[in-house]
Amino acid sequence: MACCLGSTLLLLLLGSASSAERNRCLDAAEACTADARCQQLRTEYVAQCLSRAASGGCPRARCHRALRRFFARGPPALTHALLFCPCADPACAERRRQTFVPACAFSGPRLAPPSCLAPLDACERSVVCRPRLLAYQASCAPAPSAPDGCLLGQGPRCLRAYAGLVGTVITPNYMDNASARVAPWCDCGASGNRREECETFLGLFTRNRCLDGAIQAFDSEWPAVLQKQLDPHQDPGHSFLQVPSEEQPLEGSFLLAILPVLALQALSD
Ligand SMILES: *[C@@H]1O[C@H](CO)[C@@H](O)[C@H](O)[C@H]1NC(C)=O
Repeated sequence: MACCLGSTLLLLLLGSASSAERNRCLDAAEACTADARCQQLRTEYVAQCLSRAASGGCPRARCHRALRRFFARGPPALTHALLFCPCADPACAERRRQTFVPACAFSGPRLAPPSCLAPLDACERSVVCRPRLLAYQASCAPAPSAPDGCLLGQGPRCLRAYAGLVGTVITPNYMDNASARVAPWCDCGASGNRREECETFLGLFTRNRCLDGAIQAFDSEWPAVLQKQLDPHQDPGHSFLQVPSEEQPLEGSFLLAILPVLALQALSD
């Protein structure tokens, strides 16, 4: 019974992904699985980010380091596809939100977000984070008059700089599964007389036309490598069968953790 229920859920999950609106985050995951380097680096961060520390939490520093390696050493077409896959429905957006193991890399379980001043101050003291934040500020500076919102078509550089923040103390992520809004895990509620500084920092993510435009533009430039891998000629049964067998060993408990959520979504469609 357990076996059959499990595979029914998988069929529902994958069935929903192969309907008219492709789940591009699932496509990106498959493309990463098919690339030895991407798969290896992802296996490493998933293993780190899902392992248990002595304290019962996760080893966040090791998880962050593995995530930085993923983006530093993985093929950018594939790593960026996982980070910025465009979504038209909550199942896809939920997968996108979960891709970089937010429970360890982004927020602690059941914690209210801290003031952004804490991660911001920690970032400014960190030799890893500080240059990455400076690069992000420079590359994603909004330019009100530019058509794409970025200085001189800097969209792709902005996305690279954004990816460079994943695995730092100001790791950003998608806020929910109903939008493409992103932010680090923090707010400006308790920022006292540094409220303006806090809002300016948070606004780099939540009110940034250059970043929003660059993420949207990624949709139209959806990497050719993925299209080749996933689109028309392939046997329709192929990705259907391939995903569970290839993904389960690597994403193991991660996939199992999000499966019920995705299956419920498929059932409610
Ligand atoms: C989207 O998020 C909401 C709220 O967190 C959750 O209840 C819902 O199950 C999620 N949808 C999917 C498809 O995971």
